[in-house]
Amino acid sequence: MKTIVVTGGTSGIGEALAHTHIRRGDRVVVVGRDEAKGKAFLDAAERADAGGRAVFVHADLSLVSENRRVIAEITERFAAVDALVLCARFYRSHRAVTPEGFEHNFALYYLSRYLLGHGLADRLEKAGDPVIVNIAGPGVGAGDVHWDDLGLEHGYDGWTAMFQGGRLNDLLGVSFAARHGDGRTRYVLLFPGGTRTGFAGEFDAPTAAHVAAMKGNAQPVEMAIPPITAIIDAPPEEPLSAFAEGRRIDLRSPSFDADDAARLDALTRDLLRRDQSR
Ligand SMILES: NC(=O)c1ccc[n+]([C@@H]2O[C@H](COP(=O)([O-])OP(=O)(O)OC[C@H]3O[C@@H](n4cnc5c(N)ncnc54)[C@H](OP(=O)(O)O)[C@@H]3O)[C@@H](O)[C@H]2O)c1
Repeated sequence: MKTIVVTGGTSGIGEALAHTHIRRGDRVVVVGRDEAKGKAFLDAAERADAGGRAVFVHADLSLVSENRRVIAEITERFAAVDALVLCARFYRSHRAVTPEGFEHNFALYYLSRYLLGHGLADRLEKAGDPVIVNIAGPGVGAGDVHWDDLGLEHGYDGWTAMFQGGRLNDLLGVSFAARHGDGRTRYVLLFPGGTRTGFAGEFDAPTAAHVAAMKGNAQPVEMAIPPITAIIDAPPEEPLSAFAEGRRIDLRSPSFDADDAARLDALTRDLLRRDQSR
């Protein structure tokens, strides 16, 4: 029995993945912000006689403090984590700032993934064949990094924020592999392809219309699950790999630049140090 932690496991790809692995006999820890959806996950597992293998951890992952609490709770409750699957995201047409002062998309889509990956590295290393699967948009339309304005105070746009987030996650994969590459934990960046999900967010009218059209052409959520499950079953050999719709992405692409990754890692540590000293 593997222990699989799924963020954003209350909707869309994360939810379908959580139910798949409950059916397969794994222990699944869903981390999410919606208690009613968390209860629905636990009730469904109970009905399938798998109540003992289903766990819900309630958290708003846009907050650094909440990520730290989740890391502490998972570290205390589980001796090993076999897979950490990162699916939480929330699109925002209008810029928002968390109570801790971070732009929301940066906080949830990047900073949370940074904290959870590094924070659970110790528990992942205790597993037999551990892997982090970061579901994002590796190398796909990779956005620019606004180095002097990571929170996009100037010229915010929802897609710019999301594409920058995808690029930050590419660089996170590079720096995670650089720091933990000697260990057993594999880091996999994965673009599932357009998938018909809840697409959680707050949309202006043109974006809402665009998202509705995208959903019309997207694959059903069940189709996104087998490639993720295959990676959890047999992680790639390389410390870092990236896939888009099943195809391997060449890590020599500028999106995975090692200097940029080191720069972002240093910037992030600095931001988090300042956050902790408040
Ligand atoms: N769907 C696609 O076409 C597509 C394409 C490319 C990449 N992806 C990537 O695949 C992953 C999953 O996407 P999806 O479309 O399946 O997502 P989704 O249906 O929009 O669900 C997003 C999940 O994130 C959770 N979430 C939002 N804000 C949160 C917060 N503050 N704290 C904790 N959890 C929070 C949501 O919780 P609630 O249930 O409470 O809303 C939900 O479970 C994402 O990383 C996305 O970037 C998806």
